[in-house]
Amino acid sequence: MEVKTKNVIVVNHPVIKHNLSVLRDKNSDCEKFKNALKRITYFLLFEALKDIPLVEKEIETPLKKTVCQVYDKSSQLIIAPILRAGLIFSEIAHEIAPHANIHHIGMFRDEKTLEPVWYYDKKKEIIENKEKVHLIIVDPMLATGNSSVDCTKNFTDKGILEQNIVFMSLISSPQGIEKLNTEFPKLKIVTASIDEGLNAKGYILPGLGDAGDRIYNTL
Ligand code: URA
Repeated sequence: MEVKTKNVIVVNHPVIKHNLSVLRDKNSDCEKFKNALKRITYFLLFEALKDIPLVEKEIETPLKKTVCQVYDKSSQLIIAPILRAGLIFSEIAHEIAPHANIHHIGMFRDEKTLEPVWYYDKKKEIIENKEKVHLIIVDPMLATGNSSVDCTKNFTDKGILEQNIVFMSLISSPQGIEKLNTEFPKLKIVTASIDEGLNAKGYILPGLGDAGDRIYNTL
């Protein structure tokens, strides 16, 4: 399947490639898996956080006054992990950007229909100035695209601008990218790999199996 690359950034780096191989290897245990995933997360966040707004601020160093750039407090950064696999990403995102609000999204996939089933939507109120909200939705696997589209729609319905949304995944399928990109052409997708496709159960091939089970040792 040909992959549209509009607004899709595949982050390329030897550290990512090596650690992705560790993640794909079925013999990597939970500890190895988690550590490899954490290492890659920093690289993906580097790209996903690229457009968060800054303002100028005068700072005094021990030697002289200078003008620096700091986070714009009039804008709101929201990190939305899709439970449970997205939690690793949001924990590291919160270390890097502690001013972010974490908006947990609970959804699981109905194994028959492959459609998402919602069970949790915990949020802090979104500020009045909705065009100043920057949102990063995080989920390691962009597979069928059903949950990512549903989750994104939940936020655009609340008034968040599509162009201010990043969907950050570790591995994406061409079908998931196509679906998300078609529904939300202005949204940016940041991923470490676009894999071959999906199996009949909606798992990414070659992928890495069930990300949540491998992170939380529930295989
Ligand atoms: N979720 C996973 O954890 N793995 C896949 O391959 C697809 C969805």
